[in-house]
Amino acid sequence: MCGIIAYAGHRPAVPVLIQGLKSLEYRGYDSAGLAFVHRESLHLFRASGKLEALETKLDSDHVLHATSGIGHTRWATHGLPNETNAHPHLDINAHLAIVHNGIIENFQDLKTMLAGFGCSFRSETDTEVLVCLISQRLKEGGSIPEAISWALNLIEGSYAFALISKNHPGTIWAARQASPLIFGQGTGENFVASDIPAFLPFTRDVIFLEDNELVEMNSDQWTVYDARTLEPITKDIQAISWDVQAARKGGYKHYMLKEIFEQPQVIRDCMTGRIERKTWNIQLPEIESLPIPKRLHIIACGTSFHAGLWGKYLMENLARIPVDVEIASEFRYKPLVTEEDKVYLTISQSGETADTLAALALVKKHGFPVLGLCNVVGSSIARESDHVIFTQAGPEISVASTKAMCSQLVLIFLLSLYWARRKKLLDSQAVENAVGSLTALPDKLELELPVMRERAAVISRTYSASRSFFFLGRGIYYPLALEGALKLKEISYIHAEGYAAGELKHGPIALIDPDFPTLAIAPDDSLLGKIKSNLKEIQARKGKIIALTQDGTGLNVDDEWTIPKTWGALNSFFILPALQLFAYETAVYLGKDVDQPRNLAKSVTVE
Ligand code: F6R
Repeated sequence: MCGIIAYAGHRPAVPVLIQGLKSLEYRGYDSAGLAFVHRESLHLFRASGKLEALETKLDSDHVLHATSGIGHTRWATHGLPNETNAHPHLDINAHLAIVHNGIIENFQDLKTMLAGFGCSFRSETDTEVLVCLISQRLKEGGSIPEAISWALNLIEGSYAFALISKNHPGTIWAARQASPLIFGQGTGENFVASDIPAFLPFTRDVIFLEDNELVEMNSDQWTVYDARTLEPITKDIQAISWDVQAARKGGYKHYMLKEIFEQPQVIRDCMTGRIERKTWNIQLPEIESLPIPKRLHIIACGTSFHAGLWGKYLMENLARIPVDVEIASEFRYKPLVTEEDKVYLTISQSGETADTLAALALVKKHGFPVLGLCNVVGSSIARESDHVIFTQAGPEISVASTKAMCSQLVLIFLLSLYWARRKKLLDSQAVENAVGSLTALPDKLELELPVMRERAAVISRTYSASRSFFFLGRGIYYPLALEGALKLKEISYIHAEGYAAGELKHGPIALIDPDFPTLAIAPDDSLLGKIKSNLKEIQARKGKIIALTQDGTGLNVDDEWTIPKTWGALNSFFILPALQLFAYETAVYLGKDVDQPRNLAKSVTVE
């Protein structure tokens, strides 16, 4: 998704903007640009493609003179991903420049209105409409905040933007509505960005701007206003504890690999403060006031949806709470069937996924309690939910989600045990077995990950020429089969489908031939016999099989991949990284852009 960085300070602004944009690359983008004021004129640089293309254009002397400016990475929503549509956009007189994230839904109507005032447009973007509206109002007199406020009243949709003016060098205005924007306060310098890593090398003091807030800043001062009334608002600065290193690759070739290898620590972090060691009681003070739900309704997208589906199996098994799991983009356009004592659980790494956020708003409107399981503190979903449990995975940079899902599974595991215990369905011995195994897991996983990576590298080479894959699982491993297929698709571009193994004979088995391999999740559990039969059916059609399995299962397949054994559902914490590493090694072998796969964005903040 698009990224914004704006800087007003004492340093040369262009290197700060480029550095900020680099740390926003993980959000995905197809073009980039920046603008600043120097010698009373606006300077604009834009390029399609990666940031390197923009940097090659920045060779003139004056780029080092400006000490304020705005920058943007664009992920196309309106108009092709080319230089003309790249941000910043200027008003007709080239007095104002703007960078914008989000979608202005009524931009066609506004364009027609502005054309009536004699405005013409250079690009196909909705953004140009916003800067032209502000400029149009300024012609009629008044200040820039007044013009912004007037324009924002006319706009429908979502936005986060930053604006500079040729007539006010050194001042920046920025505002948000349903799109993330964070202010960073430095010493003699101030920042605005879509995400904290963009300015983390310079400051840790931040304000999470809310909808309808407008910030005006220069190097020494800043004020937040209500964007409608222009009344100043008092805001609290929060100190962020992430270190810069946490947002960098830490010696790994890719963020994705680093994040896969961080999973043991993620499990530890997720457990911190959650387990009372003497009694093995689970502590979730965030939901103490929430009654045990009679029914749970999970809403999420993509990988987070798969985590929710995994949660359904676990929650129904341990806590005997019936669970519905729905994709947010489907849920939000269906009639809401109301039911007493239902709790909604939204799961989201970014906390900014537009469909999940819209589903949350719908549920809240009908008065149901919403519990959010979120990774990003201060994100919209975290702020909108009635109760929030943070997943403690740390910043996830790679577009393909890995450690965030691991953290979601840990918290869902703890949540299931928590409600099971409160319903007196498990005795303390059962909880001790489960939680004790979880506690022992990170050390085991730490030892196992390098072994898994080697195995993944060998197997992925054998199968990297395949054009399609099946991923099969049964029971709680079915959602992991879906996730394994998603990971392979998104980073290696090999077609893959996840199936419940028992479904194969209802149609998909027709596809099996020697060139259509299957990766089967076949741990040593009560469903092993069933999955063995499914695999025999594949072998009868000469299909090749990789089996993620455990010692003593007696499988006879093309490639056996043995993982360690642990307590019940916790085997998922070995299976999940094995699937992630298989996708990772396949993509690396095929030379794909692992951290920024084509056509994908890290946070899907538009529909
Ligand atoms: C896949 C992936 C996406 C996200 C989905 C939801 O690797 O990252 O499928 O899981 O876009 O994102 P969040 O969890 O941020 O709501």
